[in-house]
Amino acid sequence: MREKIAKLNPRFKNQEPKTLLKHFLKEYEGKIAFSSSFGAEDQVLTDMILKIQSEAEIFTLDTGRLPQQTYDVMNRTNLKYKTKIKVYFPQSRDVERLYQKQGINGFYDSAENRKECCFVRKIAPLKRALEGVDIWITGIRAQQSPTRQKAELLEWDEANMVVKLNPIVSWSQSDVWDYIKENDVPYNVLHDKGYPSIGCAPCTRAVEEGADIRSGRWWWENPEHKECGLHIKDTKC
Ligand code: ADX
Ligand code: SF4
Repeated sequence: MREKIAKLNPRFKNQEPKTLLKHFLKEYEGKIAFSSSFGAEDQVLTDMILKIQSEAEIFTLDTGRLPQQTYDVMNRTNLKYKTKIKVYFPQSRDVERLYQKQGINGFYDSAENRKECCFVRKIAPLKRALEGVDIWITGIRAQQSPTRQKAELLEWDEANMVVKLNPIVSWSQSDVWDYIKENDVPYNVLHDKGYPSIGCAPCTRAVEEGADIRSGRWWWENPEHKECGLHIKDTKC
């Protein structure tokens, strides 16, 4: 698979995201899914995907700790595109156990606790969402953070045994916002309040203008290691 991906990357490198999506959605119908956190990049992709294929598989991972503004944009998105984006929740028993073990805000106490919370609330539900999926579409951009600088259009994801497709990997932040404005795409109002990247409410805060895009996520941790585990780079790839 890795060799195949290595050949496909140069072939698709200069294609427009819409052209790419059209190709992959058709070629892998029933085996391709897009995960959306309702952030700006994901809203761009939702708009493109649903305009190509109104029945395409789009899902979100509701950790139970999302900001109200994320639920608001989820609702506006469902209404605008006359759809119902699928939601995966964490298993209630796992969340109850997590609470017993580390308390309600235990993620602030140690990196270990934080990773365990992300595992229960995001990674395990993601595994369920990706069952039977060959191509996982994400809104990752290389310019988002030091951990994503080497992100590619197509990548092998060893943890989930799927090919990851990042159609706007080479886009800048202004490409994203130009698309949103030109296409009247609904977006999370927190983006207007200093939140360039939005995750769970207790683990996301506003940043100063011009600051690193993901510096408001898990702000108490080292930027080199700030990934929740959804997108840990497979170093063998
Ligand atoms: S995270 O790993 O730090 O949370 P980030 O918020 O930058 O990731 O989002 C990167 C991509 O991961 C998104 O474009 C989306 O495809 C996926 N993603 C992140 N969070 C979620 C979520 N809660 N539900 C579904 N997909 C998500
Ligand atoms: Fe838990 Fe924070 Fe991870 Fe959300 S981002 S799953 S609240 S540690």
